[in-house]
Amino acid sequence: MTIPGQLEERVNDSGFALAAVSAPPGSPAERTPAQRSNLLTLTALGYQSWREQSLTLLTGRPLPLSREAAYFGALCRPQAGQAWLDIGTSSGFYAGVLARAGARVLACDISPAMLKVAARRETSPLIQYALLDAERSGLPDQSFDGVTIGATLNETARPRQMLAEAARLLRPGGQLWLMTLARDGSGLQAALGRFGGLSFPDEAQLHAWLPQLEAVGSWRRANVLFGQWIKA
Ligand SMILES: C[S@@+](CC[C@H](N)C(=O)[O-])C[C@H]1O[C@@H](n2cnc3c(N)ncnc32)[C@H](O)[C@@H]1O
Repeated sequence: MTIPGQLEERVNDSGFALAAVSAPPGSPAERTPAQRSNLLTLTALGYQSWREQSLTLLTGRPLPLSREAAYFGALCRPQAGQAWLDIGTSSGFYAGVLARAGARVLACDISPAMLKVAARRETSPLIQYALLDAERSGLPDQSFDGVTIGATLNETARPRQMLAEAARLLRPGGQLWLMTLARDGSGLQAALGRFGGLSFPDEAQLHAWLPQLEAVGSWRRANVLFGQWIKA
């Protein structure tokens, strides 16, 4: 793996280092309302409080971040020296978990406000932050040992494209970790899709969209789906 360590760094106006990458996010007009809402400073400042409770609220039973991190760690076992990409890092939850395991992380987001919050919360030198559209990253093939996508898939209008890009960036044997809200056929999801542009893939769609990857571990509580996939 060569990418994160070799990325040239630049310091943005907010004072934290951003990895210099070749695919800055496109215009806000291309974004779903959900993606656009994450560009707001207010959303970024409130995100971590929501994240700490979100899976408990969505599933109706306690599901703290510590349990999510433990489940991710037990299945994926990130190692020191590995290179991981965290797609849509927001406040840096998965990036932090990975760095504490010793992995190097390129933590990307299309929202400068989110990156600023993440860089303040998760300060490990193993993490590089990148303003990067993970649907068209421009990064070389097979650059990473692992990719995490924690709910970012739900926000894009092009979930298939995001997954194809993640698969392309994984080396053979590399792993993809997904935490996503699966389709439940509810009116609420239909409204969130219509007005927020959110996508709720079902499990069969995920399999169809990841033809080079095999699902090796999964856990579902209510409509929250966790899954570990390995690239052949
Ligand atoms: C629901 S939050 C996910 C938070 C984080 N992964 C976690 O588990 O806490 C989605 C994040 O993905 C970012 N995002 C949405 N579309 C993206 C894209 N195409 N490329 C990179 N980041 C994206 C948003 O700005 C937002 O910060």
